[in-house]
Amino acid sequence: MAQPGRSREILANSDPQAMTHIDRRAFLDGAARLASGALLAPHLTGATARYAATLADGRVDVLLDETIGTIAPEIYGHFAEHLGGVIYDGIWVGEDSRIPNVNGIRKALIDALTRIRPPVIRWPGGCFADAYDWRDGVGPRDKRPRRTNVWADQDEIAALGSVPAKVEPNTFGTNEFMHLCQLAGAQPYVGANLRTLDPQAFHQWVEYCNAPAGSTTLADLRATGGSPAPFGVRYWGVGNESWGCGGNFTPDEYASEFRRYATWPVLRHGVPLAFIGSGPSGGDWEWTRRFLKGLADRGDLERLWGWALHHYCSAADGEAVSFAPHAWYDLLASADKMEGLITGHWQLMRETDRAHRIKLVVDEWGAWHKMTTNVDPSHLFGQQSTMRDAVVAGLTLDTFNRHADKVAMANVAQLINCIQSLFLAHEDKFLTTPTYHVFAMYAPHQGARAVRMVASAPRVSWTDGDKQTKELWGLAGSASVKGDVLTLTLTNPHATDALDVAVALHGGKAKSIRATTLAHRDLHAHNTFEQPHTVEPTTTEVRTGADGLVHRLLPGSVTQLRIALGV
Ligand code: AHR
Repeated sequence: MAQPGRSREILANSDPQAMTHIDRRAFLDGAARLASGALLAPHLTGATARYAATLADGRVDVLLDETIGTIAPEIYGHFAEHLGGVIYDGIWVGEDSRIPNVNGIRKALIDALTRIRPPVIRWPGGCFADAYDWRDGVGPRDKRPRRTNVWADQDEIAALGSVPAKVEPNTFGTNEFMHLCQLAGAQPYVGANLRTLDPQAFHQWVEYCNAPAGSTTLADLRATGGSPAPFGVRYWGVGNESWGCGGNFTPDEYASEFRRYATWPVLRHGVPLAFIGSGPSGGDWEWTRRFLKGLADRGDLERLWGWALHHYCSAADGEAVSFAPHAWYDLLASADKMEGLITGHWQLMRETDRAHRIKLVVDEWGAWHKMTTNVDPSHLFGQQSTMRDAVVAGLTLDTFNRHADKVAMANVAQLINCIQSLFLAHEDKFLTTPTYHVFAMYAPHQGARAVRMVASAPRVSWTDGDKQTKELWGLAGSASVKGDVLTLTLTNPHATDALDVAVALHGGKAKSIRATTLAHRDLHAHNTFEQPHTVEPTTTEVRTGADGLVHRLLPGSVTQLRIALGV
């Protein structure tokens, strides 16, 4: 468990280059310098700094003039795979359904999704992508073939006998996916099949999506599906997990496959195509190093726009809802590995891409638990999402924001009914999860200017299931500015203690502040079809006193501060 008495040690965690432990002495020395005005803008001297050093448990310094980069809206992206209950029962209910829908797509989903401004949706997989023939999913729906879904042999679904999730009816194909994107206001990110289809099929899919109206037979076929205008698909994944379900390649083999699919003959049709390579599983540094070298050796590096990285976090007991107390921290610590994966791969990428033109795309991330809380047995990898998952979402999105100069896109896995979903649905029932609310709270970061912030607080320590003592930072977050509004998001990982945090702005002043908090006294709390509003954010106006802002972060919470800036 956390040790409130261990206030000797604090961690400046938000700048990986400055990941240093400092003790109480240094903390007070720093505060004394703040009080003398040596480090701060004039309005932050004196009382504010002393207050920060003496009464608060933690401190956040926001350096408004230190820009990290623009936060790509695509960092707030989604992922929808033909797997379990994601597409059918989740997204697609059919045009003739009694469930409210827009041309077959669940209306409640569209309504909730548009509220969080989804920038991009990845489809059709995942592992499914490398078994999918896009030609099965175009043309008249009643003529499309039924195929065995690539996940049908997965133990949890194989055990269910005859269930729809084992068969891909191809009702939801390219036009239907593009329609979902149009309704949601999102860009499509399409994953091409590199394992079981040839490059010609990939190039023809690009043509189907992007060729001008009436220009080719494939453009005409697209029009028969109701879309004469091209879809203008920019983002294309060249395989998925090519080290595993996407072909079991070595990095050298994958480099030569990538070349076959993505080098010069791919016609652009006026769209600046962005090819995304299938990056490593977690910290497989060799995969990154050897693939990039393989491309660079043949002069093909410029064909790679993004390098995909996958990281799923988990806790040893695997429980989604009834997790042990230590599993709260185990999961957060597992999620926190994201920071090292980003900085580690980024460092390696520089060996071949000195200018860092290629960006990171974390196109699968989330907390993955045992499949015991899914809302329907056929929802493979379905799980409930609690306050713990909400904190995972907050700390992960904060990590992406802090690395806005490196991460160009990220896609939470998955949109609905699978792993860390924003939505759960079955038949006519639908809910938003705590993770959804975090995405809503973090939406103002999209497209904003990420600025440096330093968070300091006592570290949290706990004993894990193997009786090992573990530690994690006690406060983390990110900050961004758009117009004259600063958005500061923070997570308090402490399961039982609130944290009073002094917020100091360097280079600006707060005119007014609104705080939105997602918290619940029960960390296992989650939303159900019967009680869909158990976990929801609350918003309050915050008054700043003469001593500046000290805000209380509830235990196990995610907080958004919207600070109107003045002179
Ligand atoms: O998101 C579920 C699966 O996890 C994806 O299909 C695969 O890419 C990953 O291993």
